[in-house]
Amino acid sequence: NEQPKSIIVIFGATGDLAKRKLYPSLFHLFQKGHISEQFAVVGIGRREWSDETLRTQVRDSIKNEIEGEHTKLEEFCNQFYYKALNVTSKQSYTELKTLLDQLDSRYHIGGNRVFYMAMAPEFFGTIASYLKSEQLTDTEGWTRLVIEKPFGHDLESAETLNTEIREAFREDEIYRIDHYLGKEMVQNIQVIRFANAVFEPLWNNQHIANVQITSSERLGVEDRGGYYENSGALRDMVQNHLLQMVTLLAMDPPLRLTTEEIRSEKIKVLRALRPIVEQKVKDSFVRAQYGQGVYDGEKVQGYLKEKNVAPDSKTETFVAGKLLIDNYRWAGVPFYIRTGKRMAAKSTKIVIEFKPQPHNLYLNNGDDPGANLLVIHIQPDEGMSLMLNGKKIGTTGDTSSVNLHYSQHGIDGINTPEAYERLLFDCMIGDATNFAHWDEVNLSWTYIDAISEAWEGDKDSLPSYSSGSMGPKEAEDLLLKDGFHWWPIE
Ligand code: BG6
Repeated sequence: NEQPKSIIVIFGATGDLAKRKLYPSLFHLFQKGHISEQFAVVGIGRREWSDETLRTQVRDSIKNEIEGEHTKLEEFCNQFYYKALNVTSKQSYTELKTLLDQLDSRYHIGGNRVFYMAMAPEFFGTIASYLKSEQLTDTEGWTRLVIEKPFGHDLESAETLNTEIREAFREDEIYRIDHYLGKEMVQNIQVIRFANAVFEPLWNNQHIANVQITSSERLGVEDRGGYYENSGALRDMVQNHLLQMVTLLAMDPPLRLTTEEIRSEKIKVLRALRPIVEQKVKDSFVRAQYGQGVYDGEKVQGYLKEKNVAPDSKTETFVAGKLLIDNYRWAGVPFYIRTGKRMAAKSTKIVIEFKPQPHNLYLNNGDDPGANLLVIHIQPDEGMSLMLNGKKIGTTGDTSSVNLHYSQHGIDGINTPEAYERLLFDCMIGDATNFAHWDEVNLSWTYIDAISEAWEGDKDSLPSYSSGSMGPKEAEDLLLKDGFHWWPIE
């Protein structure tokens, strides 16, 4: 029962992520006794706030985000401190160092420090280099850098950012967040695969017809139009969350459950991804934008009418794609992915479709036996189901489908706060398994850049889909031409 102790320095303490995810997650860890009471949080922002202003914000955020008992809330908030910082002023860092040293001795923290970058990415590099030059990373304990997405905008900018932060932190001190890796059922993928004798022998191109990963959202871009216009669904969701799920589904069993072994298997999957060459992008990737639609009787506007969105924007809010993995295990098995905003449901699900029996004895007996499916429910419900065929009761040999369903109820329904809780804890105990290694980021950008470059050169207009639907017809066609269809995710 390790109880890590650390100062947590949050750059972007006045921002949305801190309020919605980081403060509630830290509070959970504190309340449950998972982190030592010897901790302090230093919030950094541009505004001139007092410690008290920050504490009020933290208190409010916890009351908003967490239902139920708030025991120990005052003790928790009292260990928060605020420092206004001009990210390009050396003096600011000297003052911050003095504050951190004082807190270190007040709470007997032993020099352990987490620097959490939860703000506009253009300053990540500058901050990291000052942390080093002004010796904030020079302590008796460990120092770690947690870095939020976006990790670059393409390979080139990601490389620049990586070089900058590597000047101040070693690779093993860098924790690149992908919050999907903190989700309970994403972490369960490995256990389902490697702890069950019934799946792993079938987990290959002999027995699996295709894999489908859907991560759909009901919300539109809300007030993030500015960011989203430069990103789009491909960079916002596919480069990180969806590709991470692909690697976990496709990787070979690691030799051991260590960070290095797991990462090295995931990296091999990314290396085996068949690159999208420009002329093929249309055959395997679909992009689209949401138009207007109706949700629960209420009309919503299309993407082009959203705040901070160009009226002729070609930013995609939906992506569907077909990925091929060129290795012995997966040759010929398509991995279909789709993600989008303003879709019918908030849902993340993975469907593994198994190949049909080599010879079908039940072809003419009632319904054609359906495909066997393994469905991994990531969110909002958490669990798995297995679709099998059984005998239709009372008939001679007709089949009917049987759904074996297991559901584990997430404490918060949608599991995101818990994901951050887990990842923050992992970082404090020095476990980087569920963070993205630079090689993963590098390879995933390489794959994605080819798609975005092809799209940039494409003058055709974007298909649109109605808000509240499951995306455009083109996404259906992507599977139909291979003889498959998207399995319903509801
Ligand atoms: C973030 C994206 O990484 O993931 C958002 O930037 C998206 O656009 C979010 O809404 C989805 O996360 P979750 O946990 O709600 O599925």
